[in-house]
Amino acid sequence: MKLSVTRAEPTQFTCDLLVIGRYQDEAPSAAEATLDGALGGALTAAAERLRFKGQSRKKVALDTAGRVGAARVLVLGLGKRDEAGPAALRDHAALAVDEALALRMPVVGLVPPDADDAAAQLALGALLGAYRFDQLKSEKEDEPRPRVESVTLLADAAAEAGVRRAEIIAGSINRARTLVNEPANICTPERLAEFARGLAKHPGVEVTVLDEDEIRARGMGGLLAVSQAATQPPRFIHVKYTPQKAGTGAPLVLVGKGLTFDSGGLSIKTGKGMVDMYMDMAGSAAVLGTMDAVAQLQPDVAVHGIVGACENMIGGNSFRPSDVLKMYSGKTVEVLNTDAEGRLVLADALHYAAQLKPRAIIDLATLTGACMVGLGNFTAGLFSDDDALADEVAQAAKQAGEKVWRLPLDPKLAETLESKRADVTNLGGSWGGAITAAQFLQHFKGDARWAHLDIAGPAMAEKDDGYVRAGGTGFGVLTLLQLIEGAR
Ligand code: BES
Ligand code: ZN
Ligand code: ZN
Repeated sequence: MKLSVTRAEPTQFTCDLLVIGRYQDEAPSAAEATLDGALGGALTAAAERLRFKGQSRKKVALDTAGRVGAARVLVLGLGKRDEAGPAALRDHAALAVDEALALRMPVVGLVPPDADDAAAQLALGALLGAYRFDQLKSEKEDEPRPRVESVTLLADAAAEAGVRRAEIIAGSINRARTLVNEPANICTPERLAEFARGLAKHPGVEVTVLDEDEIRARGMGGLLAVSQAATQPPRFIHVKYTPQKAGTGAPLVLVGKGLTFDSGGLSIKTGKGMVDMYMDMAGSAAVLGTMDAVAQLQPDVAVHGIVGACENMIGGNSFRPSDVLKMYSGKTVEVLNTDAEGRLVLADALHYAAQLKPRAIIDLATLTGACMVGLGNFTAGLFSDDDALADEVAQAAKQAGEKVWRLPLDPKLAETLESKRADVTNLGGSWGGAITAAQFLQHFKGDARWAHLDIAGPAMAEKDDGYVRAGGTGFGVLTLLQLIEGAR
């Protein structure tokens, strides 16, 4: 799909489908009014007939019979202006692309509803909405497949830079989605490492991958234990981006949970609970996707991406409930449940991250079902013992149009992690599972500023919905990029 920007008038621009937004209960925009004039008031008449007032996702469409440059005009409701954030704009463009695909109209024009960064959000939405994961199907459905060849934004030249940036970011998010969507027999720890190594072609990017022997030599006892029954060897991945510009300060360090499959280990999951567990590396996909964008955007901020990648499998060599592990930090952990494995892998990655003297560590992990129980499957849990950092992350998420909600840390709940035999156990009490998981991580972040995002819910979508496609969502990339933007 080719994206471009043109200053053409809406009535003049030649395309198959021209899409305009309307905010709920507001008068039509100047662009819509001009088109309506050229169409002899047919848009207004159709809108009245359909009781269309700009309600979210409602629409009015007309064939123009050659009276304007577009063959068909579609007015799409944006909902109430004060409720419509960047996500609504992305949805808007994705719905426009859906309509164009359904009508087999390959040449699309989009009129941004406002100035500033609307054009960029529309570009992002069009590209994210057009994402498909169909490379594992040998026979494509619906051949020849409908395609949108071009999306042109009717905006002035100032929008160009934002649209180019959006193209890069959409590419990175879609690559992150693919990593999540690939099953565990394809997306192995080595595959994640290979993805990371591919980033080293960009200026300022260095990639280090530790193999199993190096992981053992360093004493990363959490990552080693979780992966020890797997045939696929673990990988510890470090992507380091250093800006060209000197003196940019301490790095922002992103840490991702990279469980390419989580069977639960000896504390085995049910069949139903296991099938989706190829997505248990979505935190690492968000980190690698962000680094993919960073490598291309070259911001003036040092950013590192750290991933602990492995499979939690089962066999004669499994780690066991009751085992005591010596972690990378030197602390000991009594394993009470082998399905609480993500925190063991993250603990080693967080300790490694803390050694980098970061300005802050942000970790992302599909960590607990409890977080989904509490917040549903569209919102990530945000945890931090640093109010200023929590606010920064929450603000970045809001600006990015990704939903996060802060949950508390509670020293009382943390007591449930106390162990008789070791420094700490990996399993909290019966209540507040997302919180106790976060408090386990807190033991390993040293004195670094740290925030944790539990993305178990929003990492995957059950169905297509606007710019979100069923499967891996790439959740987190936009928030992290926003955070990096703000760290300048
Ligand atoms: N990967 C899972 C969490 C998860 C569950 C992510 C569902 C996405 C969807 C994690 O490793 C896990 O199994 N957590 C356990 C922790 C428990 C044993 C303390 C859980 O949530 O049940
Ligand atoms: Zn698990
Ligand atoms: Zn897991």
